[in-house]
Amino acid sequence: MGPTYDQLGRGLCEALARFLEPGEARAESRIWLEDGLGLSRAWLAAHGAQPVPPEQARQIEAWLDRRRQGEPWAYILGWVPFRGRRFQVTPDTLIPRPETEMVLEAALEVGRRLNVLHACDIGTGSGILAVSMALETDWDVVATDLSPGALRVARANAARLGAQVRLFQGDLLAAVPDPVGLVVANPPYVDPADEAGLQRELAFEPRMALFAEDRGLALATALLGQAKARMAPGCVLEIGAGQGQELQARALSGGWKRVTVHQDLAGHDRVLMAIA
Ligand SMILES: C[S@@+](CC[C@H](N)C(=O)[O-])C[C@H]1O[C@@H](n2cnc3c(N)ncnc32)[C@H](O)[C@@H]1O
Repeated sequence: MGPTYDQLGRGLCEALARFLEPGEARAESRIWLEDGLGLSRAWLAAHGAQPVPPEQARQIEAWLDRRRQGEPWAYILGWVPFRGRRFQVTPDTLIPRPETEMVLEAALEVGRRLNVLHACDIGTGSGILAVSMALETDWDVVATDLSPGALRVARANAARLGAQVRLFQGDLLAAVPDPVGLVVANPPYVDPADEAGLQRELAFEPRMALFAEDRGLALATALLGQAKARMAPGCVLEIGAGQGQELQARALSGGWKRVTVHQDLAGHDRVLMAIA
């Protein structure tokens, strides 16, 4: 006789707690049962003493094997929430982080203040920024990425969520048609020199979504330069902790008039806003 749902939940939580913080293990075990197996919290409360069918127990074991190898849960489940919507993710895309919502908020605020009609999301990945902007404004939204795999996922997310986004493959702004409009991006910004000390889960994410030369500053710097040259009214970028001061100086010397850096809840530099 296999475990009951209560026993399965407890065992799963203990297994996850071997490599996650206890709070994270509890939260993740709930997501496995609710989103992974599709069992509501109310159903689980009412049926905790019921035996788990063998195929569900096998499924949990298979997921645990992958998780023990360090594979992020988002890739196993195949989606993440962002701004109240579900976005498909695959190993071709970065797993969107909650702090990127700050970039979206900043872009919406600057775009409204500047009365923009066009915006582009550069390095769109799963499309979170482009799709959110398209659904929450009446702007004409374009998105680009170098990765064809990421663009396929972004296209599928835009279609499923009913967002009008034009997608192009290309390097930074190269494929963006005129007028460029507000430039919004969460470019790769991890310093390759830091690679050895990173969480092992990052090894599952595409390298081209994470790393940038020049201590992580190369793509943000190039984007600020290209956006200015293409007469973008503003540029809103996610940046890495400790990158604000240097990028602000580079943006000002590149001709942007007002450049501000904003910190996240942990007090780290997170968003750079440049206004022409
Ligand atoms: C940090 S991820 C951000 C993905 C998504 N915007 C998000 O926040 O979840 C950076 C993205 O930029 C893309 N990328 C890397 N270099 C690029 C380049 N030179 N031009 C366009 N996209 C690039 C990567 O493929 C990746 O999808």
